[in-house]
This record gives sequence, C-alpha cells and structure tokens, in this order.
Amino acid sequence: MKRIGVIIGTDDEPVSKKYYKDNKKIMKPLEEYDIYGDYIPYDFAIFAEIKDEGEKNGFEVVPLFGESFTLKEANECDFIFTVFEGVYSFMKGGADGYKRFMNILKKTTADVFPSQRMQEFVINKHKYMKYLDQKGYNITPTKFVNLNNYSLKPIMTFINKNQFKEIIVKPELGAFKTGFKIIKNVNEKKVGDYLESLRKKGYTRILIQEFIPEFNKYGEIKTYWINGKNIYSYKQQWKDGEGVFQPQEKIEKHLLNECLDTAHDLLTDIFKDHEPLIQCRVDFACCMNNDKKCREFFINEIEISPTIGEQESNGKAYGLLAKEVINYCS
Ligand SMILES: Nc1ncnc2c1ncn2[C@@H]1O[C@H](COP(=O)(O)OP(=O)(O)O)[C@@H](O)[C@H]1O
Ligand SMILES: [Mg+2]
Repeated sequence: MKRIGVIIGTDDEPVSKKYYKDNKKIMKPLEEYDIYGDYIPYDFAIFAEIKDEGEKNGFEVVPLFGESFTLKEANECDFIFTVFEGVYSFMKGGADGYKRFMNILKKTTADVFPSQRMQEFVINKHKYMKYLDQKGYNITPTKFVNLNNYSLKPIMTFINKNQFKEIIVKPELGAFKTGFKIIKNVNEKKVGDYLESLRKKGYTRILIQEFIPEFNKYGEIKTYWINGKNIYSYKQQWKDGEGVFQPQEKIEKHLLNECLDTAHDLLTDIFKDHEPLIQCRVDFACCMNNDKKCREFFINEIEISPTIGEQESNGKAYGLLAKEVINYCS
C-alpha cells in the first residue's frame, strides 16, 4: 500500500462548529492526535479529508508534524504533501528550524509536492517577484536587499528617484505581517537602523516598496485555485489589526474578472516554467501608478501552501483539495 505523508502542525485557523458537525465522521481519526471538535486547525482538517479520501482509494495517509518529523519518517512515505510550509518552520523554529525542514524535503526519497525547489522559489520572494516582472506581470516597484551584503546608497537612490515619502519594509520568510514595518518621513538613518535590527533577528533578505494607502483602502483581492481552476475569491482589508473579509459577490465584477484572467495566465506560465500546482493563491492589490487607467492591479503575492480559513470557502476547499491530492498520487 502506498503511503502519503501530509505535513501539518500550524495550530492556525480552526474550522467552525458547523463544519465540524457536518464532517464529524471524517474528523474522528484526529482524536488519535489529541485534536477534538472544540479546536481543529485548518491543516488537521485537510489532513483528515485526505486520509478519508485516501483510504477509500487504497492509500495509507499519515501526518508528518512540521516541527519535528525526521528524514526517516519522510523516507517511509511514497508521497509528501505540504500544508505546513517553510514559513511556519521559520516562525516556530527560527533559521535552524527552517534549514532542517528544507533539508529533509530536499533529501527525502518521497515525491514531495509542491517540490522543495518550488517551495524555495516562492518563499524567496525576490525570486518569484523577479520572475513575474520578467514575464511582464505588474508588480509594484520593489527594491530587493540582501541583509548580509548591502549598502544604503542604492537603497536611498531607489527611494529618492521614485520620490517615496513613506516606505514599507517586508522581510522574506515573513508572513502574517511579522517584521513588516512602515517608515514615515523616510531617511537614511531610519532605513539603516531598521535593516540592522532585522539582520540581527536572523532575517537575510527584505523587500522595500512604497507604502501604498490604496492597498488597504480598496483591499487585497485574493484568488484561490485548485489544479488551475478558480474555486473562490475574496477581498481582504485590515482594520484595527484584524483581517476584514468580504465574499467574492461583494467584489466589483469587472475588477475581479481582470484579476482572474491575470491569475489564470500566470498559472499557465508557472505550470510550464516550473511545475503544475495542486493549489495556489494569487493576491492582487492596487493601484499601479498609471494615470491612463483607474484602479490598475498588481500582483502582490503568491502562496502555494496558503493558510485556508474555512470561512473563505465555507470549507468546500478542503474536500476538493483532498480529491486532487489523491488524484496526484494515483
Ligand atoms: N506596498 C504596500 N503598501 C501598503 N500596504 C502594504 C504594502 N505591501 C503590503 N502591505 C500590507 O501588508 C500586508 C502583508 O504584506 P504581504 O505582501 O501580503 O506579505 P505577507 O502576507 O507575506 O506578510 C498586506 O496584506 C497589506 O495589508
Ligand atoms: Mg499576504
């Protein structure tokens, strides 16, 4: 019997009471791992759905706990599907945890999907952002900085040439806004001090962009895809530190369609140039600095192992994802 390992252990985004009630039987095996109906993180729910679907199709499905699984456990699997990804390994275990995680995925004899290479490509934002740019997709002007080898002069040239008054610094391997900072009335000392503090915390690369107020004013349009097919989209804004979500019905149709067309093209390119992806999220923000077009979007981010809050899809993504994972392994 072929064995599928699913990497989990985020502790994030519990499913709703309703989802649990509707899927009680599928969730039951989670009790073996001390996970009960009162708190089922999204990744455990995905694991349980894959286990259910897998067992119907003659597979053994086991959890691999992201923070602690070993190369030996990985090698006992034929396939490994990643839900808990590199960013979590960094958040929980720092640079060492990240290295360990990536090393196992690199070395294992199992078929890892998305592959370790693909994961690295997306985690290293500068790599995929440069790819997007080369392919002609809109990205907002971005300076990529290696914190182990940088000088402030070209950074200040980038800021001054573009006449940015406020900038945003985002670390690579950052997520959920960690390490993320807005610098107002930007000057060389403020930039230098902040970059040094990030370097001391172990970040190795950062991105610098203009702080764009429309980003949050209009909200990010996040589009979710399974096997190259759009499953749902939603709009996200931030208010008082909390995410505020709007369903896709609330997004202006022509704007949503523009984003979906672009994301579809992008997935075609990625599948051809890199590898096909079981799931992917492509996030759009606005606005590009273009007087000829109102509300022109750019691609802000892509995620290949996104955190999937159940409210995003009323839980329907988990079952669809499980089916495609089993298809991939069949
Ligand atoms: N250039 C920008 N201008 C204004 N706000 C931004 C900008 N870039 C990111 N943000 C805000 O910061 C949040 C996190 O940034 P993002 O690029 O999505 O990184 P991550 O999700 O990996 O933390 C976004 O959701 C958005 O609210
Ligand atoms: Mg984001």
